[in-house]
Amino acid sequence: MILLLVSLSVTTLLAFTFIKSLFGQTTTKLNSPPSPWRLPLIGNLHQLSLHPHRSLHSLSVRYGPLMLLHFGRVPTLVVSSADMAHDVMKTHDLKFASRPKRKAVATFLNGKDVAFSPYGESWRQFKQKMVQSFEKVREEEINLMMEKIEKAISTSSPVSLSGLLSSLTSDLICRIALGRKFRGDSEEESDRYNVFEIVRKTMELSGAFPFGEYIPSLAWIDTIRGLDSKVEEVSNKINSFLERAMQKNVEDHTDKERSAFVDILVSIQRDMTMGFEIGNSELQNIILDVFLGGTATTFTLLEWTMTELMRRPEYMKKLKDDICSASPRKDTLYVSEEEVEKMSYLKAVIKEVLRLHPPVPIILRGLCEDVNLKGYDIAAGTQVIISAWAIQRDTATWGLDAEEFRPERHLDSPVEFEGQDFMYIPFGSGRRRCPGIRFGLAMAEVTLANLVKRFDWRAEVEPLGDGKPDQTEATGVDVCRKFPLVVFPSCAIFSK
Ligand code: HEM
Repeated sequence: MILLLVSLSVTTLLAFTFIKSLFGQTTTKLNSPPSPWRLPLIGNLHQLSLHPHRSLHSLSVRYGPLMLLHFGRVPTLVVSSADMAHDVMKTHDLKFASRPKRKAVATFLNGKDVAFSPYGESWRQFKQKMVQSFEKVREEEINLMMEKIEKAISTSSPVSLSGLLSSLTSDLICRIALGRKFRGDSEEESDRYNVFEIVRKTMELSGAFPFGEYIPSLAWIDTIRGLDSKVEEVSNKINSFLERAMQKNVEDHTDKERSAFVDILVSIQRDMTMGFEIGNSELQNIILDVFLGGTATTFTLLEWTMTELMRRPEYMKKLKDDICSASPRKDTLYVSEEEVEKMSYLKAVIKEVLRLHPPVPIILRGLCEDVNLKGYDIAAGTQVIISAWAIQRDTATWGLDAEEFRPERHLDSPVEFEGQDFMYIPFGSGRRRCPGIRFGLAMAEVTLANLVKRFDWRAEVEPLGDGKPDQTEATGVDVCRKFPLVVFPSCAIFSK
């Protein structure tokens, strides 16, 4: 059998060489980026661990900042330096502006790939007017969370800070996007419409590896492990949640001022003032984009920030001093957003957390045209991973202490969030850059200022026995903590 196969291959090779020389055909040799060795059928998949951002980083240390991997049959370009990211997200931004079409994502979006950018103008208008006008909403929701913490203190019970932060971020996004918190009318409905759960499941399934898409002959594995049916189930949940939310929006707003993002979109839909039409399903997809883009990311940022601060009491103390000097009053408990603006150390802490724990550690894009990058040929259709996690830990740009949590490095630094400095891209860059930067930061900054000013914190979970919360990462598209952060808070200001 083996002999037969070998002789077949040799014959084919000879035939090919003969035909080529007969017709004098010359094929230009493509110069592909370096690739690690790969196995038949699965390509480089065996080199990815449950934490792909870490495996890709290790591979890039060996194969360089531009490498070509193969996930089954899908060629995947991995970009791991600021210089290469500049070429992809700035020089050739338009060519790299699509997102790979995964089956799960397409199902969630009802087959439509909605890029946010065509609606960028309406989002920009919405954003300018609205980031500040949602200040009251943030204050109300943060105060509700603070009350829950105070209640736990009065009964000396531990609290799941992760649980509180996930409710806070999903309630805030609900109010920004839909104008109201979305709770079902009954207990069963509340369970069915648990926004954070829906978002988490959607992110989890979007990140689950779909064998069938990369290796068609293994599609049966997706059926056996129930991936397809889970995608279907979550997609139905999303649709019924969005339909219910839109219906509530019509019922609620008969005589109220229309101020949430959905209201702006509905008014554009009616007036068609933007020069393009928004159909109902596009409208729902844009709202879904805001939910998926805004909830888990902001939650992850807050969860890691509290983890890092509880691991390093010296930074917690410095932050508390910064907050108390910008917000010295003890008569009013709430730290206002105007006061937060003066807190330079708080902003440096958040910047440092976004550098070491980017909630989106690998940014996915697609390539729609052939392109040449630094002498390497990349073919249209290649899937592209911009490895923000690796770029933001690169010692070549961040120095030898790149792996260390050190907020001070940002105090006098011109590096900003907007994606103009390619060594720092927690919100991406270019056409597909995150449209929610201001919303995300506004939520995170004022929440953190209030949590740190009013309470002292001690972590309950000490698996290493060193009195510090652990840093184990969950698996999935957004990298939050694996285990919930459980804490014992105590009152800070008034206990002193
Ligand atoms: C800490 C918070 C956040 C982080 C770290 C974050 C990060 C990101 C990143 C890395 C991308 C991909 C960018 C690219 O491809 O270049 C993205 C896209 C997106 N984000 Fe955010 N985000 C955050 C908060 C938000 C918020 C609060 C919203 C909405 C209110 C939001 C909405 C979106 C949307 C809609 C997209 C898709 C844009 C498109 O594909 O055109 N994000 N985000």
